[in-house]
Amino acid sequence: MIQPRLVTKADIFKLRQDFPILNQDVNGFQFVYFDNAATSQTPLQVISAIDEYYLTINSNVHRGVHYLSNKATEAFESAREKVRSFLNAASTKEIIFTRGVTESINLVAYSFGMDKLKAGDEILITCMEHHSNIVPWQFVCERTGARLIVADINDDGSLNIDSFRNSLSERTKLVSFVHISNTLGTVNPVKELTALAHSVGAKVLIDGAQSSPHVAIDVRDIDVDFYTVSAHKMYGPTGIGALYGKEELLNSMQPFHGGGEMISSVSFEKTFYNELPYKFEAGTPNIAGAIGFGAAIDYITRIGYDVIASAENELLEYASKKLSEIGDVDIIGTAHDKASVISFNIQGVHQYDAGTILDQMGIAVRTGFHCTEPLFKRLSLDGSIRASFAFYNSKEEVDRLVQAIEKVKKMLK
Ligand code: ALA
Repeated sequence: MIQPRLVTKADIFKLRQDFPILNQDVNGFQFVYFDNAATSQTPLQVISAIDEYYLTINSNVHRGVHYLSNKATEAFESAREKVRSFLNAASTKEIIFTRGVTESINLVAYSFGMDKLKAGDEILITCMEHHSNIVPWQFVCERTGARLIVADINDDGSLNIDSFRNSLSERTKLVSFVHISNTLGTVNPVKELTALAHSVGAKVLIDGAQSSPHVAIDVRDIDVDFYTVSAHKMYGPTGIGALYGKEELLNSMQPFHGGGEMISSVSFEKTFYNELPYKFEAGTPNIAGAIGFGAAIDYITRIGYDVIASAENELLEYASKKLSEIGDVDIIGTAHDKASVISFNIQGVHQYDAGTILDQMGIAVRTGFHCTEPLFKRLSLDGSIRASFAFYNSKEEVDRLVQAIEKVKKMLK
């Protein structure tokens, strides 16, 4: 359901009031949070939805006939409907609640990859993938004899489409790539890549961990087979996310975990599995998390991606300009289509040292490989400093970062 627009670009900064965590001093400085790509902050509306669940309806879902259980089931399933609508899936049967993108990818690796791939088959990924979109496929390759193929990037951090296209063949059974790179900020042309993969008959999984906070996702328009999201990257709680899968595909797959909820009947001789989506949701789910996830979707919908994108792009542009004006700072990833993530290094300064000094000045950034070690190997770098922005960040905070980098240079160079 489309909700009325309540926020315009002009009053977006008022939304900071929804994030009390930002209003604190860290090491004697007003806190600046630039680690949104790792975990975004959680607004009061999401925290209240979780509180409300524990205060009024905490109970197990799909199991009881009593009042609270029915209420909890209603709220849980209503959250699933919100995720369905958010991704524009055709049916709630296609929305599996998981712990997040990592578990979603592992689900597909085990239930699809291990079962349907064999020696001689190939899995294509790209060189900008997060470890969670590399390691599960290595498991599949080790156990099935399939081969992992890696498409290259261009010098600006965009995907090398020729390398991607040339890596596809009739041996390719699965293609898995990130929508937006957590390290480079590159936004991949997911619809085009999906069509290329489909042209050789491969199935496609998209890692949407970084896209869901920044851009609208339409799984039917992309025509993707699997899409994965994590709530904690999009103003929701940790430990909850979703896997979208086309109904026919999910129906053809074996369950991932065994236990309660995923069965329709059990005997010592034979067990019959439940229908979708429950077949993939063994055990008591993260009910409070799912409700918080739904509240985060409501929160994003109320602001609107156009407003979010416009605020973040302005910050990205401003920060890119300011950082490139500082001497001895190298920005890593300058693709034309880029989200609000800036990786950079200060020449002659180790990123951990820089990150520690920034922290002493109350500025939270991420340092190191950002779970993309092979990407850094490809770039011949030993890591980077990463500042990742959300709509609630400001240009004044970017100025603080710039001043702090100047100080780091003075201290360490
Ligand atoms: N994958 C997360 C990041 O990019 C944790 O920081």
